[in-house]
Amino acid sequence: MLYAGIDLGTSAVKLLLMDETGSIKNIVSKEYPIYFPNPGWSEQKPEDWWTGVTEGLKELLAGFDAASLAGISFGGQMHGLVILDENDNVIRPALLWNDGRTYEETDYLNNVIGKEKLSGYTANIAFTGFTAPKILWVKNKEPENFKKIRKIMLPKDYIAYKLTGVNSTDVSDASGMLLMDVKNRKWSKEMCEICGISEDMLPKLYESYECIGTVKSDVAKELGIPETCKVAAGAGDNAAAAVGTGTVGDNMCNISLGTSGTIFISSKNFGVDRFNALHSFAHADGSYHLMGCMLSAASCNKWWMDDIIGTSDYAKEQAAIEKLGENHVYFLPYLMGERSPHNDPNARATFTGMTMDTTRADLTQAVLEGVAFALRDSLEVAKSLGINLTRTKICGGGAKSPLWKKIVANVLNLKVDVIESEEGPALGGAMLAAVADGVFASVEEAASKIVKIVDTVEPDPALVEKYEARYQQFKQIYPALKPVFEAIK
Ligand code: XUL
Repeated sequence: MLYAGIDLGTSAVKLLLMDETGSIKNIVSKEYPIYFPNPGWSEQKPEDWWTGVTEGLKELLAGFDAASLAGISFGGQMHGLVILDENDNVIRPALLWNDGRTYEETDYLNNVIGKEKLSGYTANIAFTGFTAPKILWVKNKEPENFKKIRKIMLPKDYIAYKLTGVNSTDVSDASGMLLMDVKNRKWSKEMCEICGISEDMLPKLYESYECIGTVKSDVAKELGIPETCKVAAGAGDNAAAAVGTGTVGDNMCNISLGTSGTIFISSKNFGVDRFNALHSFAHADGSYHLMGCMLSAASCNKWWMDDIIGTSDYAKEQAAIEKLGENHVYFLPYLMGERSPHNDPNARATFTGMTMDTTRADLTQAVLEGVAFALRDSLEVAKSLGINLTRTKICGGGAKSPLWKKIVANVLNLKVDVIESEEGPALGGAMLAAVADGVFASVEEAASKIVKIVDTVEPDPALVEKYEARYQQFKQIYPALKPVFEAIK
């Protein structure tokens, strides 16, 4: 039997083919455009995702026995707003997770409705990237479009809908809409009312490993796959990545260095950070998790390499970095504003501390370190809640860099376990499909049988000490610049 995992990312969709033993057979990737129509805005066309997925699935299966594809599931970029009209046409491009335009609506939710109420209804407060403020933005700024809305869905759910005709979502991804009562895993009537929508516009809620249906016959024919192929609800990309790195059960941690950067802490029990700086979401294994999310992580390095210094040889640039823990230059990685823990769409990226002897390598190093320091900010919040971590898994494009993994291990003072495959969300998606098909009794069983740790990056006490001093300095830069960011917005 074969299972396909679809990681519907921000820069590309990655598709992974796995057999029932967890052996990875093929991986393909299809890029699509992202649009930034105004500063801080970020959009994609759901139709482009569908093209990427259909072309990608055909390529993924070429040379394999497509008739034995028994299941498909997903890890999807979270929070994006996809709206369909009465004819199931996409009304406008999707507003993405890193879109900061909804600051007025976010302010309304947090300060007029009130954080306490929001946290009571959903276990979370509003962030500009979350889905509920986006719905309010369409209501306020594009009332003609708002009137046309019949279905509201998240990015991967649009793909599941095109595949099966079933309007579904899963509890991990739905947690990031600010429309779900996370503790009880059901839609919040109060939040629907606040957003002016009815519950029948929302998808049906499933656990991530549940089967929502099978592939529609016309789609099956077009893709050359069997109509019996099951589609499982899937998960938000971070929960799917957690499955793909074996971050299931209690008090396990995964760091994702993708377009976004996240620190994901699994928990058997529901819990809320009293300051709501970390998100409190449902997990794809049937339990819960806390998560800090930075909006620009590997994307900072990509921006610096591709757009600014103009190179594609990341390894060569990183080879010139020699003095870890001694860099005088700091980088604030807030190219798209910041979510955790600052919740500030006006925050901006900066280099601080350059002198005439500063080199190109110092700046590259500052970018990698700035991302690690910002992840540490979220780790500090977790520590303040009494969460004690000694190790983490790691995945995402940035995890390909041995240097970056070393910096993360030492800045966060955590042992970093490296998994055989860093394709977290795509592998997690395929594993969820296999669970839905009955190959494994639970997500935890799938993880224990499939996920293999191949290396561990140990923090070095001397370097940890140096980075501790640097982090204490980094921490002072954002509060000092916050009023400036507010003034120049
Ligand atoms: C998580 C988040 C990002 C996206 C990236 O809250 O917004 O990690 O899911 O795809």
